Amino acid sequence: MSNNNMKIRKCLFPAAGYGTRFLPATKAIPKEMLPVLTKPLLQYGVEEAISAQVETMAIVTGRGKRAIEDHFDISYELEHQIKGTSKEHYLTEIREVITNCTFSYTRQIEMKGLGHAIACGETLIGNEPFAVILADDLCDNEDGDSVLSQMISLYEKYKCSIVAVEEIPIKDSNKYGVIAGETIEENVIRVTNMVEKPEPEDAPSNLAIIGRYILTPDIFEIIKDTKAGRGGEIQITDALLTQAKQGKVIAYKFKGKRFDCGSVDGFVEATNYFYNKQK
Ligand code: UTP
Repeated sequence: MSNNNMKIRKCLFPAAGYGTRFLPATKAIPKEMLPVLTKPLLQYGVEEAISAQVETMAIVTGRGKRAIEDHFDISYELEHQIKGTSKEHYLTEIREVITNCTFSYTRQIEMKGLGHAIACGETLIGNEPFAVILADDLCDNEDGDSVLSQMISLYEKYKCSIVAVEEIPIKDSNKYGVIAGETIEENVIRVTNMVEKPEPEDAPSNLAIIGRYILTPDIFEIIKDTKAGRGGEIQITDALLTQAKQGKVIAYKFKGKRFDCGSVDGFVEATNYFYNKQK
């Protein structure tokens, strides 16, 4: 039995990956803690969840990721040092995050893929629909609601899993999960097929899934029955295909920008974008 009528209260952040594309920086620092300007990627993700009225954060970490837990906690020594000085404002944003949210953690012991990381989060999520943010996809919508807020509004209408999609150059299809389906309203597609990292000639469209999902909790059982796919990893795309075949996955062409901060090019682009925005 699932509880698809419940409000989205929790956001899962899979953050256990190795971040090999950012070595050597990610040897001792989690990729999710790399800063764009002064703020770690994961904090942007958490702030996006808060903007969508989601205040329970569930983080899937792994070995060498303890900095994440320390970041979302009080540092008494630091508080003591800068309290009452001109530098205190540097802590304003993170203090607000810590005050307004709860954080819980679980570890993915073996990095068996994004689907597997999401399944590890079941213990923190339970039997309710939930959001997923991949913090290395940094999203910003200057003109209105955050990408996650947009998706939650859509969830309230359709009550099924939702994936955020973006048009990509077809030559890049082998970096993404790619969907096919039927448009049911402007920017909303009922998904009929999805393929993880297809070669351009096999891609069912140029619509790629980015790191924002709303998932219904039946996904946990489906992942358990999903065999390792592309790259020998348990892929969330393969699990979602089971839901899609039942007509229970919506793809949403979101409003806003997305930076792939898991790649050096995307990271530099995001840095320039946020630097110019704050000037
Ligand atoms: P990526 O495909 O970007 O993998 O994962 P990665 O290991 O982090 O980075 P590279 O490719 O080695 O540079 C997408 C998201 O899924 C999480 C990652 O932390 C990232 O947020 N992930 C991936 C897990 O949590 N566990 C996994 O086993 C795989």
